[in-house]
Amino acid sequence: MIYADYAASAPMSEGALAVLSETARNLYGNPSSLHTAGQEAREAVEKARQQCADLIGASPGEIIFTSGGTESDNLALRGSGRRRLIVSAIEHPAVLRTAEDLAAHGTMLTVLPVNEKGAVSPDDLEAALGESDVPALVSVMFANNETGMIQPVSRLAETAHRHGALFHCDAVQGTGHVPVDVKSLGCDLLSVSAHKLHGPKGVGLLYVRRGVTPDPVLTGGGQEHGLRSGTECVPLIAAFGEACREAGEVMAEEAVRIARLRDRIEEELLKLPDVRRNGEGDRLPGISNLSFGGVGGEALTLMCDLRGLAVSSGSACHAGDERPSHVLGAMNVPARYLTSALRISVGRFTSDEEAAGIVRCVAESVEMLRDMA
Ligand SMILES: Cc1ncc(COP(=O)(O)O)c(C=O)c1O
Repeated sequence: MIYADYAASAPMSEGALAVLSETARNLYGNPSSLHTAGQEAREAVEKARQQCADLIGASPGEIIFTSGGTESDNLALRGSGRRRLIVSAIEHPAVLRTAEDLAAHGTMLTVLPVNEKGAVSPDDLEAALGESDVPALVSVMFANNETGMIQPVSRLAETAHRHGALFHCDAVQGTGHVPVDVKSLGCDLLSVSAHKLHGPKGVGLLYVRRGVTPDPVLTGGGQEHGLRSGTECVPLIAAFGEACREAGEVMAEEAVRIARLRDRIEEELLKLPDVRRNGEGDRLPGISNLSFGGVGGEALTLMCDLRGLAVSSGSACHAGDERPSHVLGAMNVPARYLTSALRISVGRFTSDEEAAGIVRCVAESVEMLRDMA
């Protein structure tokens, strides 16, 4: 099997796996307990907090551990207490659905468009912010999970701040793969998820800039500065820390190698007839979104799987109901290519041979499906 769905979840690194199992076996104390077993667990949590903070240029006191990207996004949006929300049309459902839920309960919601390349414009944000004096929270992602398009976050954050708004960035895609620095981006809040950077599933963080004081979503024992009650999952957090440490170490080299693999895959597949690349400009190294005219994205995903390749359809598909992707829709992708998208995402463990195998498998699958049509 060739795995080319890193944007959905990346395989855990050996280092993170080792820390996960050692910590689960040995550090079973509750980090809030005063005894030695508790304090050893606390040390592991604080070490991980430092490692995670280092990766994104934060201070350890600004890191709140959560159960993952979805919870971090919820804490940022629900906890901000702002009566006005501005989000982009291409956000992950963890932001979009949360924003819609808040809007259903009285929050003013503005959804910003993107251009055909898939980027949010600071001018559109400027115009939206000028429409009302109600203090807003702006939430725009670092990079899109379907196309890999990197957003002009520092300019957007600067625009938000000029209007007295807070700025949240969902950096679940991108962190650990390219530099994400909270200070140079200018974010007040930023979400990260461990399983996208070779850590375990079920753990993430919300960066909360010193001085920003969101309300908790989960109340209880007051862990994580009162922002996320619940006993810390020490093994997941420790493994997340190790994954962040490793990512910081290999990122510069890996980003170049992975971008080269992606470019080679795209170059070959773009030679096929009636293919379109979705997303142009500044992109993450590992994600490629291609539409193959006349071929259903879901059918193509299944055909690739039958032939031993794990990729994903660019559209948000539900069983038997192939709905066009809201991301490609927002980019005004022509109807013919809306439901024929494939997301190929490669990463740290993808080899040159596998890249060649991906090209072969996708090309053959497209040809077979076109022959069957
Ligand atoms: C951009 C983005 N935000 C949020 C999430 C949700 O993260 P998690 O799976 O950790 O809840 C994902 C996961 O696919 C994502 O790609």
